[in-house]
Amino acid sequence: MLLAEWKSNMLLILLLCSSGSDLAGSYVGINIGTQTSNLPPAADIVSILRTQQIKHVRLFDADHRMLHALANTGIEVVVGVPNDQVLQIGNSQSQAADWINKNVAPFVPATRIAYIAVGDEILTTFSNANATQVLVPAMQFLHSALLAANLNFQVKISSPQSMDMIPKHFPPSTATFNSSWNSVMEQLLRFLKTTGASFMLNAQPYYGYTEGEGVFPLEYALFQPLKQSSQMVDPDTDLHYLNMFDAMVDAAYYSMQSLNFSGISVMVTSSGWPSLGGATEPDANIDNALAYNSMLIGRALNGSGTPSRSNSSVSIYLHELFSEDLLPGPVSAKNWGVFASNGTALYPLNFGHLVKSSSNSTGLVGIFCVANSRANSDDLKKGLDWACGPGSANCTAIQPGQPCYQANNLEALASYAYNDYYHRTQANGGTCIFGNTAMVTTTDPSHGSCIFAGRSGSSSSSNTSGGSTTSSAFGPGDASSQASKLQEVSTILIVATLLHFLVVYM
Ligand SMILES: *[C@@H]1O[C@H](CO)[C@@H](O)[C@H](O)[C@H]1NC(C)=O
Ligand SMILES: *[C@@H]1O[C@H](CO)[C@@H](O)[C@H](O)[C@H]1NC(C)=O
Ligand SMILES: *[C@@H]1O[C@H](CO)[C@@H](O)[C@H](O)[C@H]1NC(C)=O
Ligand SMILES: *[C@@H]1O[C@H](CO)[C@@H](O)[C@H](O)[C@H]1NC(C)=O
Ligand SMILES: *[C@@H]1O[C@H](CO)[C@@H](O)[C@H](O)[C@H]1NC(C)=O
Ligand SMILES: *[C@@H]1O[C@H](CO)[C@@H](O)[C@H](O)[C@H]1NC(C)=O
Ligand SMILES: *[C@@H]1O[C@H](CO)[C@@H](O)[C@H](O)[C@H]1NC(C)=O
Ligand SMILES: *[C@@H]1O[C@H](CO)[C@@H](O)[C@H](O)[C@H]1NC(C)=O
Ligand SMILES: *[C@@H]1O[C@H](CO)[C@@H](O)[C@H](O)[C@H]1NC(C)=O
Repeated sequence: MLLAEWKSNMLLILLLCSSGSDLAGSYVGINIGTQTSNLPPAADIVSILRTQQIKHVRLFDADHRMLHALANTGIEVVVGVPNDQVLQIGNSQSQAADWINKNVAPFVPATRIAYIAVGDEILTTFSNANATQVLVPAMQFLHSALLAANLNFQVKISSPQSMDMIPKHFPPSTATFNSSWNSVMEQLLRFLKTTGASFMLNAQPYYGYTEGEGVFPLEYALFQPLKQSSQMVDPDTDLHYLNMFDAMVDAAYYSMQSLNFSGISVMVTSSGWPSLGGATEPDANIDNALAYNSMLIGRALNGSGTPSRSNSSVSIYLHELFSEDLLPGPVSAKNWGVFASNGTALYPLNFGHLVKSSSNSTGLVGIFCVANSRANSDDLKKGLDWACGPGSANCTAIQPGQPCYQANNLEALASYAYNDYYHRTQANGGTCIFGNTAMVTTTDPSHGSCIFAGRSGSSSSSNTSGGSTTSSAFGPGDASSQASKLQEVSTILIVATLLHFLVVYM
């Protein structure tokens, strides 16, 4: 009796602690697709993750080599049940138990498996109707198997859905799921609600933009400032949408609401931008990929909500670590990766950590942070003043008489200052945001004797030891305090897990 009571109290503590990770706010993880011709060995992949201080990954299967390599790294893992395994699991409790016993139970707790993603966009991409009908039964069987293995508090279950499930995402307030799937979606949402799991959404503004065929401006897809005339306003709620990503996430919230479900949070399990496309895919390029992904990471790390859910920050899994050249489809489909197989970044992204000073950072050669030509002049002036003032950019070169001075050209002046700030501070967490007036580009703005930091061959002013201050006004939010909060939570978790073991096995 006493023991049972103690046990249930401890379970309650454990429950509170695991939900406590939300206190640390939203996070950025990365997807690891494997359709890559020279996929590095698991240990090398994990060493790339550790170098980049990436703390969350999503696998599309339950590859044992990866699960072993991820053990004792603290990296939190989403494992996947591939679409072609859903049918048998959904038809048999014992198959589900086998799956858990093979792919989950042997690895936890050393490998921090936090979620099982059952299928990927299975309702919209998988032709086997028998499998889609047993999607939710498969999730229920897996859940029962977790319960039997006493893992149900550590591991949650969900199923990533495509935006294709929501045929019209704008205006978000009137969005609904494709009604052909209502009965499956109702079962799915009931399952998520009961188990406290998130709704997994693959939100790809790249496709929203390219398939919108001109309906949406590119800036709207890329988190760039919009002209007043092209701002997107939801006529029913009067909410202003400054970017397509927010509209997609809100469309998912409203679609759940239209089936009378609330209180299920949205986790974005795939979002990114291809850095290369074919002749007919001009928007798949490195500048756009860099712009999209750096803003996406920034918005996840600063804990922003969406217009309709301003208090719910959105965690995201960036798509993806390596490009998957073996995938079928157009050139753009094979070029979503942000690292080459040897671990070299194709373009620099900051996953929200403070890098230890390595005095000569050459990572930023060929990348420039410039003012956005669409930003309004008041905002640019503010950004310029900040960069040259509190931001400590070296603004000597834009003083009258100096090589980069251009009278009355605020964009040129701000570009120089932004770029100098960015190159000094990027390795320590400095960002290229400046109140949304800046963007990254690979086009070198240097001209004549006006040389921008980052020009290949120039002695870059990059200095990682000096620029550790990233302002809360323009920086990516307080990443270090988030990190320490996370650490606190995981310490509590470890203690709680130990107590839990004591209770269960005494
Ligand atoms: C789907 O189920 C039906 C009825 O059980 C069966 O006849 C059919 O072969 C199945 N199709 C596939 C693709 O498994
Ligand atoms: C809704 O889903 C059904 C079944 O997959 C599909 O045939 C139909 O085209 C979809 N409708 C829309 C508007 O996407
Ligand atoms: C949602 O709830 C409202 C009010 O109770 C009801 O009228 C409506 O039919 C419900 N919708 C669904 C899809 O269950
Ligand atoms: C968070 O980031 C988004 C996107 O970069 C930006 O629009 C928003 O203003 C930022 N919010 C805060 C509180 O910094
Ligand atoms: C969001 O949080 C603030 C401060 O905690 C609170 O005042 C506000 O009511 C919340 N808004 C919503 C929509 O929950
Ligand atoms: C890593 O791979 C990239 C792309 O294939 C290549 O450009 C780069 O030189 C390689 N770096 C090293 C250190 O081998
Ligand atoms: C920095 O650059 C100098 C000279 O270019 C080189 O000798 C030194 O090894 C480099 N240090 C690091 C940490 O890369
Ligand atoms: C600032 O930039 C100028 C050139 O524009 C350079 O001569 C000077 O040394 C730089 N100052 C610092 C502190 O880096
Ligand atoms: C780099 O930082 C060091 C230490 O703060 C400083 O002495 C040096 O002048 C800086 N170099 C440049 C080019 O800004």
